[in-house]
Amino acid sequence: MVRIIAFFAGLFFALALLWSFGKGLVSYVTSPPAATAEHAFHLAPRPLHLASDGPFGKFDMQQVQRGFQVYKEVCSNCHALHEVAFRDLKAIGYNDDEVKAIAAGFKVPHYDARTGEVKTVNGLPTDHFPPVVYGGQGSPPDLSLITKARHGGAAYVYSLLTGFQKQPAALLAHFPEAKTPDGLYYNPYFANLNIAMPPPLTADGQVSYKDNTPATVDQMAQDVAAFLVWTAEPKLENRHQAGFATVGFLIFATVLAYMAYRNVWADKKH
Ligand code: HEC
Repeated sequence: MVRIIAFFAGLFFALALLWSFGKGLVSYVTSPPAATAEHAFHLAPRPLHLASDGPFGKFDMQQVQRGFQVYKEVCSNCHALHEVAFRDLKAIGYNDDEVKAIAAGFKVPHYDARTGEVKTVNGLPTDHFPPVVYGGQGSPPDLSLITKARHGGAAYVYSLLTGFQKQPAALLAHFPEAKTPDGLYYNPYFANLNIAMPPPLTADGQVSYKDNTPATVDQMAQDVAAFLVWTAEPKLENRHQAGFATVGFLIFATVLAYMAYRNVWADKKH
C-alpha cells in the first residue's frame, strides 16, 4: 500500500514538472521575449592580456605605476579608491619619499578627537585614498574592487574606457526609443548601453609617462586596468606562489604515502 502511494506521489510531481515545463515552452514560442537594444547591441569585453594573467602571472610594475598615474591624474577626480592606503603604493615600487609626496597631494578628512571637528588636511602615508565629492550625473563607484566586481574584470574596464562611440544608426533605426538620453554617453560595453560617465580618456598624451611609453588612449586604458587588478588583489603573486607550493607539497605527500603503503604491505601482497 505504502508503495502504491509513494508511486502516485512521485508520478504527481513528475507530471507537475512536465506540465510546467511544457507551459513555459508554449509561452516562449507564442509570446517570445521582446528584443531590446541591450540584447542586440551589448558587446562582451575585448580581450586584454596582462602580465598578471594566468597561474604564473606577475605584475608588470612599470605598467601598474603608469596605471596609477592615470588613476591619479584622471580617474581620481571622480572615483575613490577607499581600500587602498597611500603606503600600500610601496608595493608597486614607490619609495617612502615618493609615497609621502603622493599622499600630501590628496586632501583627506581628519577627525580631531579633541574638538570633534572633521578638517580636511593633506594626506599622510597611513591615510587611505579619500572619498570624492562628485557633482555630476550618476554616482561614480569606488574603484578598489571593480575588477573583481564586474564580469570580465580588467578586460571590461579596458573595453569600457575605449568603447565610447556614436550610437549606431542601425540601433536607432530598430529601437528609436533607446536613443541615448541627454547627459548619458553611448557605450556598448556598459550593461544598459548608456553610461553617466563622460569619456575620461579622450586624447593621446593626456598624461605624460615618465618611462616614455607613448600615452595613447588605448595604452592608458590598459595601464589603468592593470593598476585596478593590483588594487583589487595586491597579494595576487603570493597567492600564485602559495598555490604552487601547496600543489607541489600535495604531490610529494601523495608519492610518500604511496611508497609507505607499498612498504607496509610488502610481505602481505605479492
Ligand atoms: C567626470 C567624472 C568621471 C571620471 C573622470 C571618471 N569616471 Fe568612471 N564613472 C563616472 C560615473 C558618474 C560613473 C557611473 C556611471 C553610471 O552608473 O552610469 C562611472 C563609472 C565607472 C565604472 C563602472 C562601470 C560599471 O560597470 O558600473 C568604471 C569601471 C569606471 N567608471 C572607471 C573609470 C576609470 C578607470 C577612470 C579613469 C580613467 C574614470 N572612470 C574616470 C564618472 C567618472
